[in-house]
Amino acid sequence: MSEMRPLDEPRLQPPGPPEIEVAANTRTLVVGPYLTRSTAAQASGAAEAQNLRSTTARLDEAVGLAAAVDLAVVQAIPLNLPKIRPSTYLGKGRVEEIAGLIKALEIGLVVMDCALSPVQQRNLEKAWSAKVIDRTGLILEIFGRRASTREGTLQVEHAHLAYQKSRLVRSWTHLERQRGGFGFLGGPGETQIEADRRIIQERMTRIERDLDAVTRTRGLHRKSRARVPYPIVALVGYTNAGKSTLFNALTEAQVVAQDMLFATLDPTARATKLPHGETVILSDTVGFISDLPTALIAAFRATLEDVIEADILLHVRDISHADTEAQAEDVGHVLDELGIRSHADRIIEVWNKADVLDKAERTRLLNLSSKGEGQTRNDHDSSAPVLVSALTGEGLSALTSRIEARIARSRSTFAVVLPPEDGAQLHWLYENAEVLDRREEVNGTLHLAVRVAPEKEPRFHNRFAGARHLHGAR
Ligand code: GTP
Repeated sequence: MSEMRPLDEPRLQPPGPPEIEVAANTRTLVVGPYLTRSTAAQASGAAEAQNLRSTTARLDEAVGLAAAVDLAVVQAIPLNLPKIRPSTYLGKGRVEEIAGLIKALEIGLVVMDCALSPVQQRNLEKAWSAKVIDRTGLILEIFGRRASTREGTLQVEHAHLAYQKSRLVRSWTHLERQRGGFGFLGGPGETQIEADRRIIQERMTRIERDLDAVTRTRGLHRKSRARVPYPIVALVGYTNAGKSTLFNALTEAQVVAQDMLFATLDPTARATKLPHGETVILSDTVGFISDLPTALIAAFRATLEDVIEADILLHVRDISHADTEAQAEDVGHVLDELGIRSHADRIIEVWNKADVLDKAERTRLLNLSSKGEGQTRNDHDSSAPVLVSALTGEGLSALTSRIEARIARSRSTFAVVLPPEDGAQLHWLYENAEVLDRREEVNGTLHLAVRVAPEKEPRFHNRFAGARHLHGAR
């Protein structure tokens, strides 16, 4: 019977993992159709916030996103849009103008830096005889490429399917055809869209089950890590701010650092010893970008668990970037979504790329930040940003001092005296606290300095009633 199937039979196989929709090196045109300020303000608060960013910077970012999936961007054009046209997003004149450009430049793909409805996408593809992809589609491609852990891959695939499903609904409702009677696709009378939707839904349910299992395993890892009494320091920041470079500089580890957006998708955690002997777990995270679709933020929430649980967040900013303020705002919004921004005492702002600043700007920023090296003790504890260059190493020792000071502030240190051979108590301390100093008397009595995390303090005090508070939080 299979030879009787119509050619446009919907996929009988569930869609696989997100695939790159377009080949690398495709000649690409990036179009930034940005609403004029007043239109955006009417549209929504989010659009208004978006407009903080300069048109050039937004377009640059879109070009960077395209480059991240190896597209050959031939040209990028910003458009000032007074209003959105429902059928093609752009006005008729613009559509024709761009059609001419596409022909002349032999463009194979157009990236529209906006959110297109499926109908708009289809109409534009028809008018331009070229593939069209919008911002969400592009971000999903990037996420799909960068995901390296099983959890990351599953999350991306889930987000991609959810995106496909929503587009299916909206794009096909008025086109759907009755396909009942053949019996290939479930019950009689099932329409093409219902079949597609069902296949996608089945796949999503399976992924959710797999994700559950992966998350549970991860939770176990987490628990065993929680027993390692080291504070977690997570790096967050706008994409390309220099997180991976800073991570490498602080851990001297080999994590891919490249001039590419989203070099990091899955968090990479590594234990590292800071210069004054403090051991921390440093965690590199995904780069944030502007206008990240909320559905995607939700999908990556689990990936950002390290951020939520971190003792300290390093908010890394490319302070040399013209749009650094808007970028910081965007990161702030994501932190809000994760429920973190209110804990300002956990965040240290790191102003990166000091090496590319001109002299005047550098002096100005240095005055606003804690003064780099050679500070007074108070500077260690201040909430001022730290100016660094992850590339040259400038300011890094000020940064590590600051991290250590913050940790000391959030955790108390105690002096404990243990009688000789009290192995059980000693073992408990090594498992649950941080032993900073250990001295042994000739008779075997141990004098220890230990740092205890707030959540461990009640149990600590139960066991070591005589411990003397030395310094730190109280
Ligand atoms: P995502 O993974 O996309 O979020 O990026 P990231 O924040 O991890 O940035 P990454 O470390 O990959 O750095 C991005 C680019 O900035 C690379 O080309 C780095 O070499 C460069 N870079 C990082 N830190 C500095 C710095 O202090 N000075 C200069 N001049 N360039 C830097």
